[in-house]
Amino acid sequence: MHELTIQGVGTVEVEEGTRLVRAIEDSGVEIGHRCGGQSQCTTCRVEFEEGEPEVMTEVEYEKLTDIGQFGDMRLSCQIVVDRDMTVNPLMTVEDQGWDDAGPEPAIMVEPDAEWFPITTLEQK
Ligand code: FES
Repeated sequence: MHELTIQGVGTVEVEEGTRLVRAIEDSGVEIGHRCGGQSQCTTCRVEFEEGEPEVMTEVEYEKLTDIGQFGDMRLSCQIVVDRDMTVNPLMTVEDQGWDDAGPEPAIMVEPDAEWFPITTLEQK
């Protein structure tokens, strides 16, 4: 188990390997996942205060570089909880005025995750 701290909300225990977007939602924060966890919508975006993984999926890298946010934030649908983490969810149902957060993300990271060390990825 790992501790997930959500800024302004509190700390919860999360099982190893849980998809971060699901862990945040399970904690009671209605974080966006408008594409259902497919690395398309970027509404699951978070800032890391502590515990940022040093690997990134190829699709997260492509999306973050597309929108010019590589190095500024992460997509929680592309991350699994494998350590203690402190995050700040940036788009929620409440602050965006959505009717709901979006389709439920699958248990496992989608699309098929290919992980790369961030140090090997470049700012485009
Ligand atoms: S990019 Fe859409 S849920 Fe993560």
